[in-house]
Formats: sequence, structure tokens, C-alpha cells
Amino acid sequence: MKELIIVDHPLVKHKVSLMRKKSTGTKEFKELLKEISFLITYEATRHIKTKMKRVTTPICDADGFFIEEKKVTIVPILRAGLGMLDGILSLMPNSSVGFIGIYRDPETLQPVEYYAKFPNISENEIFVVDPMLATGVSSSAAVDEVKKAGGTKITLMCLIAAPEGVKFVHGNHPDVKIVTAALDEKLNDHGYIVPGLGDAGDRLFRTK
Ligand code: URA
Repeated sequence: MKELIIVDHPLVKHKVSLMRKKSTGTKEFKELLKEISFLITYEATRHIKTKMKRVTTPICDADGFFIEEKKVTIVPILRAGLGMLDGILSLMPNSSVGFIGIYRDPETLQPVEYYAKFPNISENEIFVVDPMLATGVSSSAAVDEVKKAGGTKITLMCLIAAPEGVKFVHGNHPDVKIVTAALDEKLNDHGYIVPGLGDAGDRLFRTK
């Protein structure tokens, strides 16, 4: 199916551009990531089903349409994915949250999972979140783990994607919908997205 959605909205473009600026400090960077995550959740959840339940308005009874928030799970990839969690949860506060920690071994270049904890996800709509989809190695490995835990309905949400990352994830997981706020030009020799915004984790947590 290989679905890629680029959320091409003026508000999103504006906020992504502010995040790209080197001069944007930690506080603003965090707030912007939260706001963009909120905005792209609108598109990322477009496919999820609603259940009809009658409601009573002050005037009469009417059909109400509800999403089953308890059947939604958000899985941030540690650590930068944490920066997207609150924005998504503010729209679906009763969702469950799983966590996955993955790093890339500098010698073998293979993904190494150091932490994974999921609630029961087999029936759930799952949103794996990581701001930077660069090589796609970590995101693809995270999706592998979610699938091993029984997940089938998986969307990958990110802030900035590189074409190489999209191709890699879709090569391994053609069933996963990718939703991003921006699709950039390429990766550089160090695996950074160009033009990108630098290291999202370092900018979020002020570790450099
Ligand atoms: N991770 C980041 O934080 N930034 C990039 O450009 C690539 C991977």
C-alpha cells in the first residue's frame, strides 16, 4: 500500500520552519514539536473508525460518533519520540502508551533494542512516533518489535522524513502508513537529514 502523507498545511510549514532555525532555543523547540504533533495527529488519525452511540443534546437525541481511545496506543521511540507524546495525548488522553528504546551500534550499524514495554496492543490502532525519519533503521526496527508484540494497524508519525528513510521503512513494512510534517531532500554522510534541523534529541533535551 505504501502510503505517505505529508501534512502540507501553512500552520505546520510555519512551525517546522521555526524549528529548523539554529537560533530557536530549547523551550520554543519543545513547544513547537508539541504543537506540530497535535496538528499532524489530525491527519494521522483520519482512517480510524468511530462507533455510533446516541447522545442527548439540549434539543433532542442525535447520533454521536466516538473513537475508541482505549484502543489507541502511542509508542514513542526513545528518546526524541518523547517530544511528540504530549501533543498526541492532548487529543486522545485515554490512549495507552508503550515505549521502545533503540540505538544504532556504531560498529555493526545494526539497530540494538535496549528497552521495550507495550500494553496489550493486538487489537489497537498504533502510532509509532519519532521526529526524525533519517535512515529508517530505528523506525523499521521499532515497527518489527510492535508487530512481534501483536500489533497490526500501525502508523509511523514523524516531523521530518528523508526519502531514504521512507524507502527503507516502506521496503520492510509496506503496510505502515507514514505521516510527516515535511519531506526533506536527503541524508548527509553522517546520517543527518538535509536541511533538517540537526539532532532533535539534543535540541529537545539540551544535551549538546
Ligand atoms: N536524528 C536527528 O535527530 N536528526 C537527524 O538529522 C537525523 C537523525
